[in-house]
Amino acid sequence: MPRLHVNIDHVATVRQARREAFPDPVAWALRAEAAGADGITCHLREDRRHIQDEDVLRLRERIDTRLNFEMCLAPQIVTIGLEVGAEAYCLVPESREEVTTEGGLDATAELARLREVIPALGERGAEVSLFVDPDPRQLDATAEAGAAFVELHTGLYANARGARRARELERLFDAAEHAHGIGLRVNAGHGLDYENTAAVVGLPHLEELNIGFAIVSEALTTGVDRAVGRMVELIREA
Ligand code: PXP
Repeated sequence: MPRLHVNIDHVATVRQARREAFPDPVAWALRAEAAGADGITCHLREDRRHIQDEDVLRLRERIDTRLNFEMCLAPQIVTIGLEVGAEAYCLVPESREEVTTEGGLDATAELARLREVIPALGERGAEVSLFVDPDPRQLDATAEAGAAFVELHTGLYANARGARRARELERLFDAAEHAHGIGLRVNAGHGLDYENTAAVVGLPHLEELNIGFAIVSEALTTGVDRAVGRMVELIREA
């Protein structure tokens, strides 16, 4: 069974909408761990739109499972990443305009930079993955860059419907086999939800899934009765 890493970015998105102290992504991460998460993932973006530097420090101190720190290759972010001392790092592309990480990292274009960053992260014993599309060229470049892991981008599969989805799933299967064949270990994530995850669990050699948005959304939905009920009660009794 693959490990589940819960991505907590969007708990911070809600908090940043009001720049309040709550909801606290770190407290939420502890509850995710208590509920069975095998690890916590967060992405410190250059624009700091959700997770803040302080969140990362508090996570590092407080979680008992594994921290997977997602980051782009910008020098300032990599410097922070090195200081964090996470168990795992996932290197991702980043652009200011995107709503979320859109495509995978172009490992062929970034090869030189990756060859600087990956050994520096690996020196401290951390696992390093590259978030790439399920494309053999990208997988070959991931191995060439020296990463031990690939995180297969499942976004196209998740967004596709019908026969296209079946084709995208097949691409993921082929990519997982290809990755394993060239010595890479396999993680996957992006856009996975309560309807489309089961098929991905069947990917060969899969070690870890990274899931965020669907879980945070589900928590908001399943919590609505209790949250509204408590306020109704409070008003009634006041
Ligand atoms: N993996 C990577 C590399 C990501 O950038 C993200 C989104 O932050 C995820 C997984 C999780 O995607 P989602 O929030 O759609 O579950």
